[in-house]
Amino acid sequence: MVLLGAIDQGTSSSRFIVFEADSCSPVADHQIEVKQLFPEPGWVEMDPEEIYSTVVECIEKTCTTLQELGITLDELKAVGIANQRETTVVWDRESGKPLYNAIVWLDGRTSDLAEECIQRCPSREKDYFKPKAGLPISPYFSALKLRWLLQNVEAVRAAKERGSLCFGTIDTWLLWRLTGSYVTDVTNASRTLLMDIHKRKWSSELCAFFEIPFEILPEIRSSAEIYGYFSSGSLKGIPISGCLGDQQAAMVGHGCLDVGDTKNTYGTGTFMLCNTGTNQIVSKHGLLTTVGFQFGPNAPVCYALEGSGSIGGNVVRFLRDNFGFIQNASEIEELAKTVDDTNGVYFVPAFSGLYTPYWDSTARGLIIGLTQGTTRAHIALAALKSVTFQTAEMLDSVESDLHGYGKIQTLKMDGGMTKNQLFNQLQADTLGRSIICSKFPDITGLGAAIAAGIGTGHLTLEEFSRNSNSRTISYQPKISEVQKDNENRRWKEAVKRARNWTQI
Ligand code: G3P
Repeated sequence: MVLLGAIDQGTSSSRFIVFEADSCSPVADHQIEVKQLFPEPGWVEMDPEEIYSTVVECIEKTCTTLQELGITLDELKAVGIANQRETTVVWDRESGKPLYNAIVWLDGRTSDLAEECIQRCPSREKDYFKPKAGLPISPYFSALKLRWLLQNVEAVRAAKERGSLCFGTIDTWLLWRLTGSYVTDVTNASRTLLMDIHKRKWSSELCAFFEIPFEILPEIRSSAEIYGYFSSGSLKGIPISGCLGDQQAAMVGHGCLDVGDTKNTYGTGTFMLCNTGTNQIVSKHGLLTTVGFQFGPNAPVCYALEGSGSIGGNVVRFLRDNFGFIQNASEIEELAKTVDDTNGVYFVPAFSGLYTPYWDSTARGLIIGLTQGTTRAHIALAALKSVTFQTAEMLDSVESDLHGYGKIQTLKMDGGMTKNQLFNQLQADTLGRSIICSKFPDITGLGAAIAAGIGTGHLTLEEFSRNSNSRTISYQPKISEVQKDNENRRWKEAVKRARNWTQI
């Protein structure tokens, strides 16, 4: 039996999953929730050591399970990484220690810096670098987080002077700790705002603009090749040979391999990726151009249009942790089901601003339409619906940019929120079209395992497409077009009121 492993390091948890290569079915896994820290309003950090140690613990626990199942570890041929993207780690090459907490993709501390950068552009537009980087200037991407660290943290400045400063997104941090290699993959690099997406190299223009020294950047590699070998632990000597940003990994795991194939993942945030093949479409509707995958150093590069949403499972976590509405995230379904509608309540959970299609870091969350009759259940339902409205806006953008390709026929969905059947129905209603949810919960991990198998030659993309046996469930819209349009219109009105809030 050939087994492939996947590290799935997300904003909410670390996980290790082992798949059987032929059938793509999971054999064993372990998952641990990771802490998010909120040291100041709008700031989101994580402890890089906790990220690493939870990954190691997941690997070791999974290996124990494999052995209990009578499976020997030499059947595990390769491991891939899927990771939360953009999150920025800095460490000292000599001591190996992080120099600051990881600044998480959701962190909004650089919104003034972003504005300053926009004003420095000849066109004074946030999209000035979009043709080159595929991304607008926004606190979301790594460049500004790294600039902030260089400007504000003495230990980072000192390490730079000594020539021992390392920068990485989570893939680089993990690869460095697990194998000693200092590399990133092209999908993760495409999220830094420092890479030229056409040449797939660090851009001297972007590095100069954001004042990032070239020498602290890791080497950019493809998404499927051997980056290094585990240097310790139960997997010592096994190669890490696949690496993808988690959203790109989900795109692969869903089998979105042809132009127009589109998936939406509901994790901490919500991310829609539409495969555009070798075309690098520059969006006119607030989407990002991102690298989808490149399976081998000489393989063609597949690009994607991405709708990024800051609103996702974090809204459920917010109602659980900040308000105690529920004890466990899964209880939101029962609570929201106790009412037929939101009683006119709209919830815009723009905790760190709004991403696609607005790219407004000055927006903040609001709940509007409260009356004396509003209950927790109405707010819980409005929270779930907020994620579905955001998805509708993303799909609109994708279809406008793909003008000429026609409508997206099937939206494939996955992620923690899709375990909630009420949510899935709400999503079909808000979109006014049928959707397909994966019954298989490990789509992201599967994508990373596929990349790892391709990287060592144990699998080809064609074999994966042939063998992957995706189990799905579909949902049809149940509300009228008029109601759907009316609700989407009222959502947009609520969004208008949430915008620009930090500037007032
Ligand atoms: O761009 C951020 C994204 O990669 C985070 O994914 O699954 O942690 O919400 P997730």
